Amino acid sequence: MQKNFCISLFSTDFFGKLVEIKILKYSSMYPLKIQSIQRNTPQSVNITFEVPEELKEFYQFVPGQYLPITYKNEINQWKRSYSVCSSPHEGKLTIGIKEIENGQFSTYANRFLKEGETIWIEKPQGRFVLPENKTFKKVVLFAGGSGITPCLSIIKDILSKNDQTQLVLFYSNREESQIMFASELLELENQFGDRFVVYHYITHSQEAKNLKNVSFGFLDKNELLHLQNIQKLDFREFDKCLICGPEPMVVDYIEFLQSVGIGKEDIVFELFTASTSSFFEEKASESPIFQKTDSSLVKVLIDGQIHQLNLRNDAYPNILEAFLENDIELPHSCKKGSCVSCMCKVTKGEVKMERSFALSQEEKDEGYVLLCQSTAISEEVEVNFDL
Ligand code: FES
Repeated sequence: MQKNFCISLFSTDFFGKLVEIKILKYSSMYPLKIQSIQRNTPQSVNITFEVPEELKEFYQFVPGQYLPITYKNEINQWKRSYSVCSSPHEGKLTIGIKEIENGQFSTYANRFLKEGETIWIEKPQGRFVLPENKTFKKVVLFAGGSGITPCLSIIKDILSKNDQTQLVLFYSNREESQIMFASELLELENQFGDRFVVYHYITHSQEAKNLKNVSFGFLDKNELLHLQNIQKLDFREFDKCLICGPEPMVVDYIEFLQSVGIGKEDIVFELFTASTSSFFEEKASESPIFQKTDSSLVKVLIDGQIHQLNLRNDAYPNILEAFLENDIELPHSCKKGSCVSCMCKVTKGEVKMERSFALSQEEKDEGYVLLCQSTAISEEVEVNFDL
């Protein structure tokens, strides 16, 4: 949700002179200076931001959340989301960025970004979190590649509390050299050996020199069954299962965990990329057949202002896209139904959602929808971002 603010920040201009930047009402993001860039692996960096005292509250995060960021230079503007890898008790705001093939911003960040540059950052968001003020006996985490970033924040947070929660991390990477936070994880294992264990899976190499527990090959459904039946690892002992990685991996693990009797409510997951699998679509039997209206008057209330459009419903894939194409900026990030940035409440009329796996049943019952997945099915629709 956006918040109203009126604050002043100070920065230096091109000639090094101190200038005041006034940020007026309706700001949902602020420019933060890069305090440090540290190499994590040959293909990844950790970026820590300087958070001014007056913005500390705005940037408070729950372990597992991500930051939507916008980077602009003379040539490009990129909007991306990266998980926070630091933990609140460390008192810093750090994200991890892995360079991905053909990834324009991840390549730029790894090769050209400099300390002292500024990036526009929105409020921390995301649902890949554990319920607050609850303690757990045993938690299992599955991370693939840079899916470790939100997991690391959660792991450090749990270990910093003296509640004796046991943590097991299954962490898959192509090669040992690509393991993000390898030494930090090893230090945590050494420090909290009775509470924290990491099982590494190396998928594209047969070599690993500095890992304690390592297997070569994929951690797929067969391997999970092997762990359950042969190694006698009873997954039902875990109170919560967290999964973060590429979609096929996430789908595999959810199916396995559900097959051994773990309830939907005890599985928390985050997809790296936008979902393309039918696994996350509304099941036909759960979703009544809707008749689209030809056109709808759609009103959006945000930050106390109303924006409205008369939409021909076959002209746009969803309501969010219709507003963006008409130059009305609304909160969004993934546009695929997983990040919940576009969550708002329907206060009049009806919409149909394509994918709604990121919302709880309670939220759906209360009328919350994801605008990037919604089409209008009544002649008038009103949604509210401020509720
Ligand atoms: S933009 Fe991510 S869920 Fe809609």
